[in-house]
Amino acid sequence: MNERYQSILSLRAIREFEPRAIREVDLEALLEAARWTGSSKNRQNWSFIVVDDPEQKDRLCDAGDFTDPIRNAPAVICLVREPDGYEFDTGRLAQNIMLAADALGMASCPITLHRDGLAAEVLGLPEGRRCRYAIAIGYPAPSSGPAKFGGRKPIEELIHHNRYDG
Ligand SMILES: Cc1cc2nc3c(=O)[nH]c(=O)nc-3n(C[C@H](O)[C@H](O)[C@H](O)COP(=O)(O)O)c2cc1C
Repeated sequence: MNERYQSILSLRAIREFEPRAIREVDLEALLEAARWTGSSKNRQNWSFIVVDDPEQKDRLCDAGDFTDPIRNAPAVICLVREPDGYEFDTGRLAQNIMLAADALGMASCPITLHRDGLAAEVLGLPEGRRCRYAIAIGYPAPSSGPAKFGGRKPIEELIHHNRYDG
């Protein structure tokens, strides 16, 4: 199997990071991968807020239920849905950032900001913008690995042909 395909299959959410800051060149590369993500009608109704201030990260943690990866990471990229943006596009953004991080030797974890009203307040979002998802990023801690519950359903449970009952 070629390396690019293998990297898609082996991409995991990593929640432990080295304490060091992200190199500027790596951060720029991640944001470039985000910028080049395809979107519905190429509208690109999104923007990104990079949060690396520890106090601001702490405030953001209160907006979600499973936000320890934000605390552990040197930075988090908040995915802002601009007016008329689609959540599907946000998903594509997240995956592009995660694959780019992996290609650059970094680790990442998607984060849900369940209380997105609070997230909007913390991030100072103008009216009509929403941030429900973010990606914690950094360099993987030497001991880091995926959470133990990270397997997948067998393929026979997932695939149908032509119709759901096919
Ligand atoms: C939409 C979405 C939201 C997620 N939110 C969180 C989260 O808030 N906190 C967290 O630690 N992991 C979060 N995850 C990571 C998942 O728990 C993880 O992808 C899943 O358990 C499978 O593990 P793996 O990606 O390592 O194979 C999220 C993943 C997705 C796709």
